[in-house]
Parts: sequence; structure tokens; C-alpha cells
Amino acid sequence: MGDSLDGELDVSINLAVMGATGLVGEVMRQVLLEREFPYKSIKFLASKRSAGKTLAFGGKNFIVEEATPDAFKGVQVVLSSTPGSVSKEISPIAAKAGAVVVDNSSAWRMDPNTPLVVPEVNAHMIAKNQGIIANPNCSTIQMVVALKPLHDVAKIKRIIVSTYQASSGKGNEALTEFDNQIAAIGRGEVVPAATKHKHQLAGNCLPDDWTLGEDGYTEEEIKMMKETKKIMGDDSIEVSATCVRVPVRTGHSESVNVQFHDHISAAKAREVLSRAPGVVVLDDVKGGNVPLAANSVGRDETFVGRIREDKSAPNCLNLWIVADNLRKGAATNAIQIAEILAKQAK
Ligand SMILES: NC(=O)c1ccc[n+]([C@@H]2O[C@H](COP(=O)([O-])OP(=O)(O)OC[C@H]3O[C@@H](n4cnc5c(N)ncnc54)[C@H](OP(=O)(O)O)[C@@H]3O)[C@@H](O)[C@H]2O)c1
Repeated sequence: MGDSLDGELDVSINLAVMGATGLVGEVMRQVLLEREFPYKSIKFLASKRSAGKTLAFGGKNFIVEEATPDAFKGVQVVLSSTPGSVSKEISPIAAKAGAVVVDNSSAWRMDPNTPLVVPEVNAHMIAKNQGIIANPNCSTIQMVVALKPLHDVAKIKRIIVSTYQASSGKGNEALTEFDNQIAAIGRGEVVPAATKHKHQLAGNCLPDDWTLGEDGYTEEEIKMMKETKKIMGDDSIEVSATCVRVPVRTGHSESVNVQFHDHISAAKAREVLSRAPGVVVLDDVKGGNVPLAANSVGRDETFVGRIREDKSAPNCLNLWIVADNLRKGAATNAIQIAEILAKQAK
């Protein structure tokens, strides 16, 4: 039973893409084709609203089906990107029908029986699934891809992260709202009021674009703090997060300050990260070669740069971490998990 990301996939599985009409679902379809995912059959599921619509995939047209219990008969893997409330209800039904659901929502992430997986970090947890595998929060995925290799060398004590998150992280309708606001500003018209983002995003930064959780933290911040410990398998790592929505369509950026138990120089961190799976180091500030959200769009890697020693505290580094939230933050990570499931089905 292999859990490597490399190697040919010579098995074919019956696949369903649930939430296929959404932003993540759309990227899921692109990434499946790019990676030549080995499906024997494929179906596209969404809500009743979209049932009967046509989706183009691999040169063919597919009719979107409603995600009813019957839709999962014979399906081996479900790549799911529905709202959490929908996943809470439907994922157990799909799992009971015999499928393994790789779920992008937050519904199952902190469930003790559900593995929370980033293949570069904890692929070994995939085999422990009981029918549902959770894909972590997008901001958390890119952070742990970059930090796990450093943790292995110098052991992380504490992380302080501030995010600069794109509009598309909130789904189709929020991105359309942002696009309409930008267009209105360009035409000199009145900017349409925000109904999806918490405030007007065009020309703005929103520190409160998520549901408020406990102790004044937003749910996004709480997800980053809790999920990091679970994925890294280390409860001793302290995480403090501030999440901010910025006027960017796609591509999340993060300013991350990490304190380690052991000393690690910026040069050593660069060397470790340059051979880490899924990471690209772009750390040439003079040459203007640094991680940028716009350049991350359509890429599956996590980009790391601005690697500096923080002299204000012992064993600390500052990093700038960027990734495409719809790809590594959602679709690509889920498909990497499904590829490992396909290998394990051998
Ligand atoms: N956007 C990101 O960067 C990102 C990153 C990581 C995780 N996620 C998570 O991924 C999920 C989807 O995000 P998104 O950005 O793709 O949202 P979205 O664009 O709003 O798409 C939501 C999808 O869920 C489907 N859906 C809604 N209700 C359903 C139901 N009752 N039964 C079956 N399907 C239903 C929708 O189908 P209809 O078209 O029929 O409504 C649509 O396909 C969310 O849980 C989100 O938190 C998103």
C-alpha cells in the first residue's frame, strides 16, 4: 500500500465530483484532466438547482445530477466541495454507500475519526480513513506545506501568521461581487453594496470577512490554529492567526513568523525548502523574484520567499508564503489524496 505522490496510476476508479458547479468544482475538473486522473467512470453532482445543467469535461458534455443517496451507488471516490452543512448531511450517506469522500468543507476536519490530510505532510493518515477524509482549510494547507520540512529540522514552538486572502476563497458569488465592484470603480459608477463579502472588498482589506468564533477570533483564524496542530500531529505547536481578506481574485498570501526550539538560519531554511516536496523557493528580492499571488494562479506548488532571521526573539524566522487557494488550497490537494486512494485500491 503506497502513499507516495510519485509514480504511474494504473488503476481506474469510479469517481464523483460533488459541488461540481462551484468555484472549487470547476478547478477540480481542470486539475483532474491535467493530471490524467485514472477514472473508469465519472459523474458530476450538485444541488437540485443545477441538476440537468451541462458541464463540459474532456471534450464531452455531462449532465449534472442532483446529489441524492442513489447518486453514490457504485462510486468509489467522491471529490466533494459543497458547503459544510451539505457535507454534514451527504458525506456519511456517500460513505455508507461504499465511497471514500474527500471533503473540502470544514464539516469533518476536527472530527477525531476523520483524517485531515495534506499529502506532503501526513499522507500516512489516508489509510486510516473510515469513509471520509477532510481537506484542510486553504490557508492552513499552504502554511503546513512550507513549515513541515522546517519542523522536521528545528521543531516548531510557535507560529504567528497574518493572511492576505483572495476573494475567490469565499466562493463563486463572492468573487462575482468583487469583480462587479472593481468594474464599477473602473467605469466611475456607484460601487454595488457588499452582500457576500462582509464589506466592500474593492479598494479595501477586511479583517472580519468570516463568522465570528470564540474569544474575538474569526472561524478562519480558529481553523488555522486548530488544523495546524492536527495535520502536523503535534499539539505542542502554538499558533496565533489573523486572517484578512484582500482585493485579490485568487491566490492567498501569508506573512508567517515562526519560532523554533532549535536554531535554524535563513540559509539553512532556504536549503531545506529548496528540496521540499510541493515547495518552490523564490527569494531573490533584488531581482524581483518573490512569491506573488497573481503568479501563483494556475500553479499547484506553494511558493516561499522573504526568508529572514527575526532578531527580536531567539530561533525565529519570517517567511512569505503564497499559493493558489483554489488549487493547492482545495482541488489539487483533494486530487492528490484521491490519487493515493487509487493506488491503495490496487
Ligand atoms: N474557494 C476556496 O478557495 C476554497 C478553498 C478550500 C475549501 N473551500 C470549501 O469548498 C467548498 C466549496 O467552495 P466553493 O468556493 O467552490 O463554493 P461555491 O462556488 O459556492 O460552490 C458550492 C458548490 O456546492 C454545491 N451545493 C450547494 N448546495 C448543495 C446541495 N444541497 N447538494 C449538493 N451540492 C450543493 C453548489 O451547487 P449549485 O451550483 O447547485 O448551487 C456548488 O457546486 C466550501 O465548503 C468551501 O468552504 C473553498
